[in-house]
Amino acid sequence: MAETTKTATLTIDGQAFELPIHSPTAGPDVIDIRKLYGQAGVFTYDPGFTSTASCDSTITFIDGDKGELLHRGYPIDQLASKSHYLEVCFLLLYGYLPSADELEKFENLVTRHTMIHEQMHYFFRGFRRDAHPMATMVGVVGAMSAFYHDSTDINDQHQREVASIRLIAKMPTIAAMAYKYHIGQPFVYPRNDLDYASNFLHMCFAVPAEEYQVNPILARAMDRIFTLHADHEQNASTSTVRLASSSGANPFACIAAGIACLWGPAHGGANQACLEMLREIGTVDRIPEYIARAKDKNDPFRLMGFGHRVYKNFDPRAKVMKESADEVLALLGIENNPTLQVAKELERIALEDPYFVEKKLYPNVDFYSGIILDAMGFPTSMFTPIFALARTVGWISQWKEQLADPQLKIGRPRQLYLGEASRDYVDIEKR
Ligand code: CMC
Repeated sequence: MAETTKTATLTIDGQAFELPIHSPTAGPDVIDIRKLYGQAGVFTYDPGFTSTASCDSTITFIDGDKGELLHRGYPIDQLASKSHYLEVCFLLLYGYLPSADELEKFENLVTRHTMIHEQMHYFFRGFRRDAHPMATMVGVVGAMSAFYHDSTDINDQHQREVASIRLIAKMPTIAAMAYKYHIGQPFVYPRNDLDYASNFLHMCFAVPAEEYQVNPILARAMDRIFTLHADHEQNASTSTVRLASSSGANPFACIAAGIACLWGPAHGGANQACLEMLREIGTVDRIPEYIARAKDKNDPFRLMGFGHRVYKNFDPRAKVMKESADEVLALLGIENNPTLQVAKELERIALEDPYFVEKKLYPNVDFYSGIILDAMGFPTSMFTPIFALARTVGWISQWKEQLADPQLKIGRPRQLYLGEASRDYVDIEKR
């Protein structure tokens, strides 16, 4: 628990209650209200958790005003340019940058767990071919608890570790299989001679009929997409994983819950929604119409890929993603792609428009990731599964951190009840 430096006084009907204030390593002070109900008999009200810290954590820190994202203290731009995804996974899971020897062992361990139980292939075949790959992933990851019984005991430290490695290692295989099943192609088995990102690209794009060479620049861009999505502190899907886990649920069930939450268009589903929006806009001359709709209070339309609950400045992940998009599109020679032109012009207009400037609505990570994934050849339905694959390490790290907390309690929010007061049941003939 953080240092307790000050107290806040809350006065209700003339009676004062002292509340401790904890000072974090970084970020705003936190008023501790855990004893408030017991002492004062009142709840606090904060739908959407806009002012509520749901846990303490040492993994990731975001300064939304500065546009800063740190994993275990290291800035995301440094990790994206100097590190790579599996090293970031190690950092998130264990809290420090590995030695060369530790990294090699970790990479080897993950690589040796990439195959899934052969029986799971039949499980995939139970889905309709036109199932969205996210629907398949929610089902298959949840079903891992039926295949890997020896890593579901959350009270066993070794089993927790095995489950963590299994999830990080098998998620690319599951995502690629969901894709292959969706498009009617045969599954491609993982290859241990390829790095994490290249292996994923190979499983998605190779076919048994011909040789497929992974382009190293695309593999690097894929790895960077994974790195930029690895963790993002207490967002909706991570909080879902923590809440599910607080009841003692097994790790595969918890991660399936996280995937389900991520799917929504306000969260991870925004990358798919954003590219579909850019395509719907179609040409630069139609942008003003969409900007007007985004500002119209009576229209539910929002500019997908813009805005963030925490970032009130440029999303630092979006900056790196934008550079990566330029690199990939130049490599593939598609800088003049009409979708990209709409994206660039939309970004320019939105960054100058007073509505977006005043509300501090900047492009977020999902604005650029879809452009890269599209250029790589992924259909929009695969964008969110790729986010889920990459975020698995964040969910797992937060899950492990929560289980190691001796103060862990089941998550159980209270409510402001506005329904009917107690009343007597009325017999049907008297209604
Ligand atoms: N387009 C138009 N107006 C917007 C947008 C947008 N994308 N985002 C927020 N606003 C307006 C909103 O209408 C509100 O206006 P007012 O104050 O007049 O009522 C104001 O900005 C604040 O918005 P909010 O909904 O209270 O903010 P929030 O923190 O609850 O929501 C958000 C954050 C990300 C859900 C929201 O900005 C949004 O829906 N963005 C589009 C979806 C998106 O790109 N999501 C990906 C987020 S980043 C990756 C991830 O987390 O998964």
